[in-house]
Amino acid sequence: MSVAVDIHNHFLPESWPDLAERFGEPNWPWMKHLGGGQAMLMLGDEPYRPVYSACWDVSKRLEEMDRDGIDHQVMSVTPLLFAYMRKPEQAADCARLFNDLALEMCARSNGRIHAVAQVPLQDIDASCREVERAMAAGHIGVQIGNHVGTKDFDDEGIITFLHHCADIGCPVLEHPWDMMGRERMSRYMMQWLVAMPAETHLAMLYLILSGALERLPKSLKICFVHGGGNFAFTLGRVDNAWKHRDIVREHCPQPPSSYVKRFWVDSAVFDEAALRFLVDVMGEERVMFGTDYPFPLGEQQLGSLVRGSTSLTAREKALIMSENAAVFFNRPFDKRT
Ligand code: CO
Repeated sequence: MSVAVDIHNHFLPESWPDLAERFGEPNWPWMKHLGGGQAMLMLGDEPYRPVYSACWDVSKRLEEMDRDGIDHQVMSVTPLLFAYMRKPEQAADCARLFNDLALEMCARSNGRIHAVAQVPLQDIDASCREVERAMAAGHIGVQIGNHVGTKDFDDEGIITFLHHCADIGCPVLEHPWDMMGRERMSRYMMQWLVAMPAETHLAMLYLILSGALERLPKSLKICFVHGGGNFAFTLGRVDNAWKHRDIVREHCPQPPSSYVKRFWVDSAVFDEAALRFLVDVMGEERVMFGTDYPFPLGEQQLGSLVRGSTSLTAREKALIMSENAAVFFNRPFDKRT
């Protein structure tokens, strides 16, 4: 079996300082341990998501990686901890705290668990400083949310940050968060099922239609999780709109589909036909294995979608499972299982 590198999965440290106390403001995330390796991630007084020990226990994580033949993971914090809506100095402190806790977990993994950093994206200068500090400390990239309030991926500050990442050779993972339409999507996890893929789609289209990709260097490596959300399936619709409406073309000189090769996406689409289609649209060198492990909406048997596919070739599977990640993160990943 080829090397397997899961580039989209999440961690939570076993414990962290009481952030409500630290910052003197309510409604920060904290972990309520329930015993038996189970816990509830809390947001203030409200339960947010049930989690289990793979989030924080490195030996549990390695055991489950071994079980499913996963050689490496590149983990990122759950977006609940981005803190983009907080005071910039609080978000910067939060980023440093969790970035350092992530590296402590990596240090106990015998080189199999790696991390991408978080930054206080509401403060671009502080984000540039933190990403440099984190990369120097051992992070192999950065994860950012797809917006900061009403600032999207056409925002000059966010584009400046992406430019900085390209300049210092830091790969960027986009993760949707703070989902739109909350009033109408309070039931049945609609925020995760409908709004999340739309958030990622929005970020990708803002980069294209605002002309940001015309200005950003081609060396920028940016990957959108959940298979790029709604992007691939609706690309034809966007091209058609670009052809027939000048307000769509206004800042975007080339057909939207011509920018596809500037993006990477992960493989977390949970359906074989969807994955085949995604590889056809994005290209076999642009899809990387991702799972959303160890959360309930993640892949339960890690790697089963890609490995079990009857429509992907062996070459495509090798690219998706690890070779594309080696290019994206500009580093080798060796066989461990
Ligand atoms: Co995720």
